Amino acid sequence: MRIAVLASGAGSNLRALIAGRDDGRLPIEIVGVGSDKPACGAVASARAAGIPVFVHQPRDFADRAAFDAALFADLGAVRPDLIVCAGYMRLLSPEVVRSTRGRMINLHPSLLPAYPGLHTHARALADGVREHGASVHVVTEDLDAGPVLAQATVPVELNDTDLSLAERVRGREHPLLCAVIASLARGDLVLAAGAPPAWRGTPLTRPLRLGDDNRFMEVT
Ligand code: GRF
Repeated sequence: MRIAVLASGAGSNLRALIAGRDDGRLPIEIVGVGSDKPACGAVASARAAGIPVFVHQPRDFADRAAFDAALFADLGAVRPDLIVCAGYMRLLSPEVVRSTRGRMINLHPSLLPAYPGLHTHARALADGVREHGASVHVVTEDLDAGPVLAQATVPVELNDTDLSLAERVRGREHPLLCAVIASLARGDLVLAAGAPPAWRGTPLTRPLRLGDDNRFMEVT
């Protein structure tokens, strides 16, 4: 499966995908990395791995639609089967979301539908929740609101800070994202425009759960 990754941050999730590709766990080719941040860790990691990088700066474009059109024209040229937003921090215009027709997924640091948007860890701590985590969902025109494919949970500890909780969640994001992509690449998980996601031929009625062994728990 040909994958393009969008990222704006440190790039730890991208590196998890590169590692999975290199050790054979992920039957994927990473055909490009797109970003809005020329100096971010994700761009440096992509370059170090010899992956084509497409960077544009929002200030060079009249508006969001023009920026997205340029970035997605570059991505389209490398013909990805799947676009993975892994710490991509810009809102996407409806035009590019529609043009990908359900072939774009996003990693989000909360158990959606709880805490869409920013500052998810601080909000979870402020609410005193006992369980937090990460989700991978299909990107739709509404922010963080597309069908959730899979989730990984972490406990919230009494003495947690924003940072300690973020670090615990990130530790589960890497195997979660790899498990989703492995399932898509092997055809266990299927995304089709206009149809609900399916797991082994059955429509997914609730998110897959990542077990401690980093595999999805049996869907019942
Ligand atoms: C992740 O926690 C992701 O959920 C959030 O941004 C972070 C990116 O981390 N949207 P990295 O750049 O992959 O290290």
